[in-house]
Amino acid sequence: MNKNKGQWGSNIGFLMAAIGSAVGLGNLWGFPYKMGIGGGFAFLLLYLILALLVGFAIMMGELSIGRSSGKGVIAAYHTLNKKFSFLGYMAFLSPFLILSFYSMLGGYCLKYTVANFGSMFGAGFGINGAEPGEYFTNFFMDPVATSIFSLIFVALTLIIVMGGVRGGIEKFTKIAMPALFVMLVIVIIRSVTLPGATEGLVFMFKPNWEVFQGSGFISVLASAGGQMFFSLSLGMGIMITYGSYLPKTENLERNAIIVPIADTVVAIMAGLAVMPAVFAMGMEPGAGPGLLFITLQGVFESMGAAGPFFGFVLYLLVFIAAITSSISLMEVLVSALIDHNDKKNRKSNRKAITIGSGAIIAALAVFVSIDGLGTGGLPQPFGFIWLDFFDLLSEGIMMPLGALIMSLFIGWGLKADWLEEELTADGSVWKTKKFSMLAFKVIAPIGVLLVLLGQINNFFQLGWF
Ligand code: PHE
Repeated sequence: MNKNKGQWGSNIGFLMAAIGSAVGLGNLWGFPYKMGIGGGFAFLLLYLILALLVGFAIMMGELSIGRSSGKGVIAAYHTLNKKFSFLGYMAFLSPFLILSFYSMLGGYCLKYTVANFGSMFGAGFGINGAEPGEYFTNFFMDPVATSIFSLIFVALTLIIVMGGVRGGIEKFTKIAMPALFVMLVIVIIRSVTLPGATEGLVFMFKPNWEVFQGSGFISVLASAGGQMFFSLSLGMGIMITYGSYLPKTENLERNAIIVPIADTVVAIMAGLAVMPAVFAMGMEPGAGPGLLFITLQGVFESMGAAGPFFGFVLYLLVFIAAITSSISLMEVLVSALIDHNDKKNRKSNRKAITIGSGAIIAALAVFVSIDGLGTGGLPQPFGFIWLDFFDLLSEGIMMPLGALIMSLFIGWGLKADWLEEELTADGSVWKTKKFSMLAFKVIAPIGVLLVLLGQINNFFQLGWF
């Protein structure tokens, strides 16, 4: 154990942190909508198959690489094979890109939590019945307000990460994740008991196999696969970092099954919380920020006196989901930088390192906030708004590419008994050995490659498929 970093206090602490990383904005607004337009139950089925055939193996691979080296992402790859160090650097870059827009969106959630709280008492900072579309536009086009909320979000992330693995991340997620779950159940109960709620369930779950016809299959595969990588926090060193804090006595294979299952359950629950309410209020579900900040706010406003309360609970839970993901991204950076100091025989000051990385993130978050979803007048790279551009680079390209190379590396580059040794270190048997090796060698690389091509195709509208 690296005394500069520490370890999880318990396996449940690790699980709360890892599930906290996985459960984020991707589950709460990405999944329900993508599932609805991607063929409902047909999408869910494809998602589950991908999670089983690709996600599980990659999660297990990352946890093993982390625990066997006991290092953060750069040093972990370097220890395994110097030629593959570039994978570590690539994974190290992604958190900067993701945190830039994630912090802004987390800031939006904070703003809406506070505003709905204000509405409960008719306070001046409440929304108090303002037209939701107009309210949102006024907010996101205001660079000062969005920057301030983004910065508060970054600051809160820093405070938790500064507390360390056990005293900060584990302590926070062990309270936050159960709280999130309870809040989600409260919102679901309200949502599915609204008159007309079934239509939302139909939108989400009704199987539409036609989406698979012709080139549709690759498109849905790319959407489901991209969602899976993002949602499971794969391909960017988070599970390597979190795995490096696990003692040898814990079972990695079982953990690699539990995290995806919990993540998927929460994604489906998010759909149950969101879609029935949207349809019951006679609204159309939209994608992205509009769904969360306009449509849902509209739903709460049409709920009458109880609306602000449910709004407050929902935005608070989305905020918690976002911050438990953002601390995991930040920890990737901090952990890698502590290793760097260790290598140079320098003592590390976790607080200083966290603040240093946080300053860069803060600058990027302000930049994306000023872009104001493309309304801020900044030059647009390749015609993308900055949020989408950073998302494309990270989620669209670097995460799957990293996962693809890692999978081939584990499958073909490392000796088979390397993984076995790590997975059986706790005295257990590696139950899925045959299947997992096939997944690393063939299934995952093919799956990830299709996802990668599909995403590039969709983003740039290349018409390949
Ligand atoms: N998994 C998180 C979500 O679903 C996002 C995330 C992606 C977090 C990558 C960390 C790394 O929103």
